[in-house]
Amino acid sequence: MCGIVGMIGQLGTKDMVLKGLETLEYRGYDSAGIALHTGEEVVVYREKGRIADLKQHVPTQADATLGIGHTRWATHGRPSKRNSHPHQDSTGRLTIVHNGVIENEKQIRHEYLSDITFVSDTDTEVIVHLLSKLLAKSGNMSAALIELQTILHGSYALAIIDREQPEVLYAVKNKSPLLIGKGEGANYLGSDALAMIEQTKHFYELNDGEFALLTKQSVQIFSKTGSLVDRETYEAQIDANDLAKGPFKHYMMKEMHEQPAVIRRITKAYLTDENETRIEDAILTALRQAKRLFILAAGTSYHAGLVGKQYFETMAQIPTEVHIASEFVYNMPFIPEGSFFIFISQSGETADSRAALVAIRERGFEALTITNVPGSTLSREANYTLLLHAGPEIAVASTKAYTAQLTVLALTAAAIKQYAIDLKLELARVATAMEHICEMSEQFEMLAQNYFAHGQHAFYIGRHVDYFVALEAALKLKEISYIHTEGFAAGELKHGTIALIEEGTPVIGLISQQAIANHTRSNLQEVSARGAHTATVVFESLAQSGDTIIIDDVHTLLAPLVMVVPVQFLAYYAAYIRDCDIDKPRNLAKSVTVE
Ligand code: G6P
Repeated sequence: MCGIVGMIGQLGTKDMVLKGLETLEYRGYDSAGIALHTGEEVVVYREKGRIADLKQHVPTQADATLGIGHTRWATHGRPSKRNSHPHQDSTGRLTIVHNGVIENEKQIRHEYLSDITFVSDTDTEVIVHLLSKLLAKSGNMSAALIELQTILHGSYALAIIDREQPEVLYAVKNKSPLLIGKGEGANYLGSDALAMIEQTKHFYELNDGEFALLTKQSVQIFSKTGSLVDRETYEAQIDANDLAKGPFKHYMMKEMHEQPAVIRRITKAYLTDENETRIEDAILTALRQAKRLFILAAGTSYHAGLVGKQYFETMAQIPTEVHIASEFVYNMPFIPEGSFFIFISQSGETADSRAALVAIRERGFEALTITNVPGSTLSREANYTLLLHAGPEIAVASTKAYTAQLTVLALTAAAIKQYAIDLKLELARVATAMEHICEMSEQFEMLAQNYFAHGQHAFYIGRHVDYFVALEAALKLKEISYIHTEGFAAGELKHGTIALIEEGTPVIGLISQQAIANHTRSNLQEVSARGAHTATVVFESLAQSGDTIIIDDVHTLLAPLVMVVPVQFLAYYAAYIRDCDIDKPRNLAKSVTVE
């Protein structure tokens, strides 16, 4: 986690770095800091809290032509000013910001740094003191960086300023994301392209182990052993306007409203006018040959994977398992020969998923990554990639990426054996149904007021695919409103958890499948009889009098795509009413690059 930004070459560096950090706040927002090289000295400003807090402590007139910045999601040491980056060595010559985790920091402290008095609890401080020693020994930064990488174990994207070299910005990358932006008379670095998109659309990728030397005019990339690497830039397909909130108060609301357009965009990207798939033959062949599919993911993407299993088993008749990536790595199930892996990750950077990808590639299995971010780590390291085309998702709570994932999963599963479904038509219906749900915004606000304004516990229940949506609904509500919410298989509630139902506990039943409608209704009756405050989200064709939210029917396989939208709105308004920070909920980060 954490986000880093850097710039060299022109005045305006302070503003660029601070703005870039604001863009990267989705990666963490516990504390923040910047360092500016004035030409003679390096001045550091750090603050606990958000970039907005930091800004108040950076003098308006401060500026430089070289600077770096950091926004933190704490791993080593509490969120505090002393643990905020940038960190410096004892002489103040070196200043660094770091995204990642140094796994052997204790050993390094013991072996190389026993004479150092540390001023923070971070693993990052270990890097800067170690680099300082290596630089003192060799007198040459490149040599020091090469040696540094032979000692460090773990993940690190680093931006480094050497006080004695005001014309140079150094970058090092291993496992954590880092891009170099190529500008005119200035060059940039950042954890993602969005941080620099106002300055440039041209980027160099850095591979693991590589380091780079940036000056005003040039970017030189070196291999782990120091040989110069010949690398072309690529042009990012991102529009700076994607970062605007438009008429919406929060990114989450904007992104929920974007869902119909995203579904239409994906349909266009994956189906020809003749309704034929555009998915590469190589991907379809790999899937057709697969004897078993393993879907690996985390968080919301894991919930999308559960629906994906339904698609692959129903539409392509391929046995499919879904696993939480962080569990899979350390407790691998039996993986038969002929298995094929699918990684689902909005960011393409989730460390848990990446660890699993590395492990299965080592065992010789092939993998497909379904991601929103072209060129992301999981995309580069898998054999194949399918893009979500959802546009940047900024709110920490994932909405449009989830529905985009379901759409791409459905299009892929249907293409394997040409399942008899007119997805062009059915997805168009989904988009229209989503639009109708967006128009019910006021109703959701009232319901949230009624069900979630007070109280600390809630349940979503469902059966069949509605159960998978219930899991996502619960995650959405708890992560942004801090109401403890559980998603439950409706029939399972009575086997213990029903003991938690009290007078007024909200229990919302999701009903989109005819075969289970009556059963879920019975389960709602059971909790209602014990005092629960029940509500329903139900397909129009299954609606009865007294139902709470009635939405347009769509093809039953695609039901999760629309069933999830009302619960996203309910989560949004619950958080709004409870005055929570909707786009940046406490303790969370959007891109989780630590295991
Ligand atoms: C974090 C985010 C979640 C996301 C999960 C997986 O926990 O807060 O919204 O679902 O990571 O992220 P990925 O980028 O791999 O989909």
